[in-house]
Amino acid sequence: MRKKIVAGNWKMNLNLNEGFDLAGSVLKMVNAEKSKLPGVILCTPFIHLSGVSRIISNSIIETGAQNCSPVKSGAFTGEISAPMIKSTGATWTIIGHSERRALFCESDELLLRKTNAALEAGLKVIFCCGEVLHERESLKHFSTVESQLADGLFKLEAEQFAQVVIAYEPVWAIGTGVTASPDQAQEMHAFIRKLVAARYGEAIADDTTILYGGSCKGSNAAELFRNKDVDGGLIGGASLNASEFLTIITALKV
Ligand code: PGA
Repeated sequence: MRKKIVAGNWKMNLNLNEGFDLAGSVLKMVNAEKSKLPGVILCTPFIHLSGVSRIISNSIIETGAQNCSPVKSGAFTGEISAPMIKSTGATWTIIGHSERRALFCESDELLLRKTNAALEAGLKVIFCCGEVLHERESLKHFSTVESQLADGLFKLEAEQFAQVVIAYEPVWAIGTGVTASPDQAQEMHAFIRKLVAARYGEAIADDTTILYGGSCKGSNAAELFRNKDVDGGLIGGASLNASEFLTIITALKV
């Protein structure tokens, strides 16, 4: 069964206590909500993971990192490995966010290694893909996403792929206030599902969760989530405010 998910990506925001306060507020609101909710994941900075995992334990909320090292341990100053993330109580990590691809020069080949490392440590993966503006304007958005998935993700075996959620995040929509239209999101999500079907078969494609990310907020979440191939969202800025984040969570019908 395809799982519906709303994941918050806090990026490099909030000091330790601010993060704990936000997690506590989200927990309180989620627990008070009467309607059936989708899966909720808080992807926090590394420093928050252990504490937030403790705060949200015994709830429907899970925690995740935003990145991980491709190797398990060793002399890699400043890096955090997947087994270290797992030991905090986190169950997810984002891999391949466009900010990592662009600002930290992460290649598809490196992202495949990171994904493998995360899965091997028992983490589930939110794997991001998406085109930049000039690629969309020159009608290369489908081929960009296709090659990101082919080179960074589709080398996984089917059992590994079952632990992966795909997030489509058009780079021109991230943090810009410009959202993909519901039609643009649906069109790309359907395309991605077709690629998954070609690689892993219809049944697995049907079970694959595909999230939309990029300026998704309380006011536009419902129209994006109404599309049949949009299974939830990866939320940046709007996940830093508990009530806005809850509006998005409850906009996703399960
Ligand atoms: P945004 O970020 O919601 O602030 O646009 C989404 C993301 O980068 O995951």
